[in-house]
Amino acid sequence: MSQTSSTLQIPETPLVPNHVAVIMDGNGRWATARYLPRVTGHVKGVDAVRTAVRACIERGIRYLTLFAFSSENWRRPADEVSTLMRLFSTALEREVSKMHANGIRVKVVGDLTRFDPRLQEQIRDAEEKTRDNQVLTLTICANYGGRWDMLQAMNRMVAEHPGREAYSEADLMPYLAMAHAPEPDLFIRTGGEQRISNFLLWQLAYTELYFTDTYWPDFDGAVLDEAIASYQKRERRFGRTSAQLVDIRKAS
Ligand code: IPE
Ligand code: IPE
Ligand code: MG
Repeated sequence: MSQTSSTLQIPETPLVPNHVAVIMDGNGRWATARYLPRVTGHVKGVDAVRTAVRACIERGIRYLTLFAFSSENWRRPADEVSTLMRLFSTALEREVSKMHANGIRVKVVGDLTRFDPRLQEQIRDAEEKTRDNQVLTLTICANYGGRWDMLQAMNRMVAEHPGREAYSEADLMPYLAMAHAPEPDLFIRTGGEQRISNFLLWQLAYTELYFTDTYWPDFDGAVLDEAIASYQKRERRFGRTSAQLVDIRKAS
């Protein structure tokens, strides 16, 4: 199931979200609160990714998308940026074989051209090795921005189909960076901020949003369960009225 559009069709609303998208925020504050350097927070953040992946698989979630580095994060001090790059590379080196053994398909989306050629190669290898895995699709958004995504998709679409008077939503969808996944059912942002920070702007159109004060290094199955419990209380109307949903439930 991919290339879904919640504004064109009404998607199913599974009890357990099929796709969870997360802004992993609060690494720096987690460390600062402990008088540790920010980088320690990022190291702990990598451990939390492992925990999150396991927790998602245990709960039957099929797609997990993590915001690891935004197109705006280049504005950080150069040493923090290079530490983040190094951590990403080390994590791929250490984890890809294990992920492959656990049936995880790895995808990395974003403008990868700005990365070191060796890191780009590691990313290509990880995607290639795990491409047929079915248990969980783990998408890492790296040098990703929602606006970048829409623009790159539009540019590629127009280059391949020039001269049309108008293009449709369905025309654009295959070019978006997340075309391999259905739209997220549940969005989680850790770290207490309540903003989207240029994450999946197109795909979050009808996603349920959940914000928690927990810093990303403390993320675990219990936090995920709180988010899922909140999601399960929502009424996903997709434009319809509550009464219509009651009628549909009665009829089924
Ligand atoms: C999220 O944690 C990780 C990245 C953005 C790479 P932060 O580094 O933003 O942590 P805070 O928000 O400063 O606490
Ligand atoms: C968003 O976190 C990006 C990632 C988690 C990778 P930031 O911490 O960079 O977000 P802002 O800039 O505070 O909104
Ligand atoms: Mg932050």
